[in-house]
Amino acid sequence: MDLSIIVPTFNEGPNVVELLRRIGAQADGRRFEVIFVDDSTDDTPDVIRAAAAASDLPVRLIHRDDPVAGLGGAVVEGVRDARARWCLVMDGDLQHPPEDIPRLLARAERGDVDVVVASRYAAGGDSKGLADATRTVVSRLSTLVTKAMFPRKLAGCSDPMTGFFLIDRDAVDLDALRPRGFKILLEILARRQLRIAEVPFAFAPRHAGESKASFTQGVRFLTQLAMLRFGRMSAFALVGGVGAIANLVIMWGLIRLGMEYVVAAVIASELTIIGNFLLLEFLVFADMRSESGTFRRRFLASFTFNNLEAIVRLPVMWVLVESAHVPSVLAAALTLVAAFVVRFVFHALVVYAPRRTPTTTPQEEPVAVAEGARGRTLDA
Ligand code: GDD
Ligand code: MN
Repeated sequence: MDLSIIVPTFNEGPNVVELLRRIGAQADGRRFEVIFVDDSTDDTPDVIRAAAAASDLPVRLIHRDDPVAGLGGAVVEGVRDARARWCLVMDGDLQHPPEDIPRLLARAERGDVDVVVASRYAAGGDSKGLADATRTVVSRLSTLVTKAMFPRKLAGCSDPMTGFFLIDRDAVDLDALRPRGFKILLEILARRQLRIAEVPFAFAPRHAGESKASFTQGVRFLTQLAMLRFGRMSAFALVGGVGAIANLVIMWGLIRLGMEYVVAAVIASELTIIGNFLLLEFLVFADMRSESGTFRRRFLASFTFNNLEAIVRLPVMWVLVESAHVPSVLAAALTLVAAFVVRFVFHALVVYAPRRTPTTTPQEEPVAVAEGARGRTLDA
């Protein structure tokens, strides 16, 4: 078997025949098998059985009477059951065009990666098939924050939320996965440093039926993120909290010494910004320093950003209070929370972004990354 194609399905009856037809047209002499992992509550299993009998491809159906962990759980079950080493995961609604399978497989067969991601956000890809503008914005923002939370493991992946990818089954520790809901690729990539390649693709509109995405899926995704990444983000939040308190204490002290309050506030903020940077440098991002350029560059980037943030945050707060009539304390809290997220994204993706340092010779680098990073629990 050259390729096992795993298709999770939940009430996708009207798409099955067309999906199998279009997958079959891609085989071109290779041995493909299709495994449907189905949690449907309608007649989809019967449709799959009938279509399987009529198809040239070997098609199997795993119907789960007790569906555990939804879409993600279904994918893991399919991979466990696969006969081929290369497992391709795709949706059953034809939003993932089967015509892209040969390109994914060809990339995998070059032999230098563990996973090939079909990306909507890589150059040449497109996400127009997303249902509406809200979905597009949510998808973009959640991708950005997720990448910030796993800056190294997701460095080579522009679309960790995609449900269309090809994995080397031997590179994934299936027992370590804790799938919950839709984002199974993220679960796989965040657990272990894998070698990633990307192939752009155009996310198509649904062939038939309706999306099963929901608010509940969104909450599951947030839980998944928190579970995967409790470490760095919470440390970052702690440093921010300590900084906020230090800021107020310094300001209070300076005013007691007779200083004018605006001047005191500015001095307190600058001291806190510098102190916070040092804490980030030596605690939160300590493990990423060696790869993210010079101390001087990081300091200037962080310092400039935090000053700009302070300059922008105050007028936004003022507008919230004066025009939108939000209570002032709530407005301050809202802008602080928004500023926190923006600051975290900026530090993880820009200030501590991996880049070549003068101390590392180019020949050493791939070895260090491949051996040092593989199999770590934290996103180091
Ligand atoms: N077995 C099983 N169990 N399959 C499910 C379940 C479930 O609980 N929920 C959904 N599926 C199947 C659907 O039948 C479909 O084949 C596939 O999973 C994707 O579900 P959709 O309802 O079409 O989701 P979507 O189009 O909104 O989301 C897709 O795009 C996202 C990116 O925007 C999925 O591929 C997501 O994984 C992806 O993140
Ligand atoms: Mn879909």
